Amino acid sequence: MSYEMILTETQGRAAIIRLNRPQALNALCDELMAELHQALTGFDADPAIAGIIITGSEKAFAAGADIKQMQARSYPGVYFEDFIANWESVTRIRKPVIAAVAGFALGGGCELAMMCDMIIAAENAKFGQPEINLGIIPGAGGTQRLTRAIGKAKAMDLILTARFMDAAEAERSGLVARVVAPDQLLAEALKVVEKIGSLSAPSVAIAKEAVNVAFETTLTEGVRFERRVFYSLFATEDQKEGMSAFAEKRKPAFTNR
Ligand code: HXC
Repeated sequence: MSYEMILTETQGRAAIIRLNRPQALNALCDELMAELHQALTGFDADPAIAGIIITGSEKAFAAGADIKQMQARSYPGVYFEDFIANWESVTRIRKPVIAAVAGFALGGGCELAMMCDMIIAAENAKFGQPEINLGIIPGAGGTQRLTRAIGKAKAMDLILTARFMDAAEAERSGLVARVVAPDQLLAEALKVVEKIGSLSAPSVAIAKEAVNVAFETTLTEGVRFERRVFYSLFATEDQKEGMSAFAEKRKPAFTNR
């Protein structure tokens, strides 16, 4: 598949999607988001792929939704086109999706990273929701996901003042899982996917689903959900294999059954 605004490749069991609009700091226009949706769903359906990495350039993961494209939009236009709906496809991918962020992750760029399952940041990463400078607010989940990730105090600070947060602060605040040197960013994300690829795919998919349920429900319901899907894994051959391998002091050979 050839794309105009993203580059795709696979390395081992990892799919890499690189946002590639350097002249606009990877601003997320409709065309780019449509390509991203197509690439994500394609890799999600490919059994050879264990995880998907979304990354950008050293200067920018993405500097936001495309302001020049949004500039002329009208209220009925945005309402009826519902142009952000397409973005949610990221959250419907069943395989782990990792955002490998270097440089700017602003506005919709920060929101895209937060839709992923995990953010790995380069030391030069800068996160922010500066939409308030434009007379708007975050529109792809920023007020919700950022607040859940880093709490009200810092979310209010970032969203109301448009200030950027560096990688160290993002890690301290719980937005980011790991911070690495810029030249190690992709290697670190690939390491995560390699590890995930060695595991039982049903347990990986169910673990992801269970963590995501934590954002949607009460503790009691969430624990009930977890217990149900935990028990369901005892119906898999991989549970027998994983536990037998431990008892026999050998590496498990999972078959995803
Ligand atoms: C369109 C953008 C853009 C954006 C940068 N560019 N961000 N174009 N939409 N979000 C373009 C610039 O216009 C410029 O094009 C080129 O990229 C390089 O940007 P510069 O500003 O010259 O670079 P620099 O001085 O290094 O500053 C980097 C920056 C700044 C701090 C990231 O570009 C910036 O503030 N960008 C906007 C950030 C932002 O407000 N994001 C939120 C957008 S709203 P030319 O042609 O002049 O060279 C949003 C809403 C999401 O995301 C809601 C859900 C959809």
